[in-house]
Amino acid sequence: MTCVRTIAETRCHVAEARRTGLGIALVPTMGALHPGHGVLIDWARRPADFRVVSIFVNPTQFDRREDFEAYAINLNADLEFCAARGVDLVFAPSAAEMYPVPLSTRIEVTGLADHLCGPFRPGHFQAVATVVAKLFQIVAPDRAYFGEKDAQQLAVIQRMVADLNMPIEIVPVPTVREPDGLALSSRNARLTPEQRAAAPILYRSLERALQSLAAGSRSASEVRQTALEVLAEIPPLRVEYLEVVDAATLAPVETVTGPVLIAAAVWLGATRLIDNVAADVRP
Ligand code: PAJ
Repeated sequence: MTCVRTIAETRCHVAEARRTGLGIALVPTMGALHPGHGVLIDWARRPADFRVVSIFVNPTQFDRREDFEAYAINLNADLEFCAARGVDLVFAPSAAEMYPVPLSTRIEVTGLADHLCGPFRPGHFQAVATVVAKLFQIVAPDRAYFGEKDAQQLAVIQRMVADLNMPIEIVPVPTVREPDGLALSSRNARLTPEQRAAAPILYRSLERALQSLAAGSRSASEVRQTALEVLAEIPPLRVEYLEVVDAATLAPVETVTGPVLIAAAVWLGATRLIDNVAADVRP
């Protein structure tokens, strides 16, 4: 496995792989790699693909300075993690390599970014779409892998690729969870033992919402209420949002008539956790 820090070296290695007839698979990450990232890397294991992992803690997508500063990555540990999973190339640029001058160009995916996390994280999805577009330009992958855990991010990227005719297949990867249901996240490490013990309630509340749909409820506010009642069992937990949204547009629905996502963001102390589940109902 090779690790490079510049765009020029990345392009050289990718061009060389292409010359030998390989396809290119990209897994974009911000490092602090955990088994959730590991599954994305495993999914990218096509025999004829050259596997690239990017590790870049993108400063522009953090809407809170504390969150960026708390984002501790250990590049050596991440490189070992990638090497053990058979990654071919790690691209780990500096902020100066990615942003030599402040950008004048930004990618805004309207509509999708206006719901769920959007209003609470101004500028976040614009920054994500822009950095991912840059990574796509640098690596020029045939396939890129994104986790369903960040369902809104995945939707924004899928829409960007479709709207801008980027010749890249976006492969969604199901959420990887701890045995108690908590979705793996680099931010879980910041939870105190008490918060960690409470955190699985988030997924439990979403499961309860699914049960209410399975039991025949079609009213989004009723489904939402059953989930909120579960979250209320942990008084220190603060709900930022919990919504039942159309799976395609991410806009809230009143009545569930087709594919939906039930998505939530909650705070445990200073740590923000997100999760979502998908559901469909037959009319
Ligand atoms: P990061 O949070 O490091 O996540 C990298 C990828 O791993 C994302 O596609 C995310 O959805 C996926 N992922 C994280 N935890 C997961 C889990 N428990 N199960 C499945 N997939 C999981 O998301 C980002 O970085 C950045 O926004 C990025 C796309 C790299 C742009 O900077």
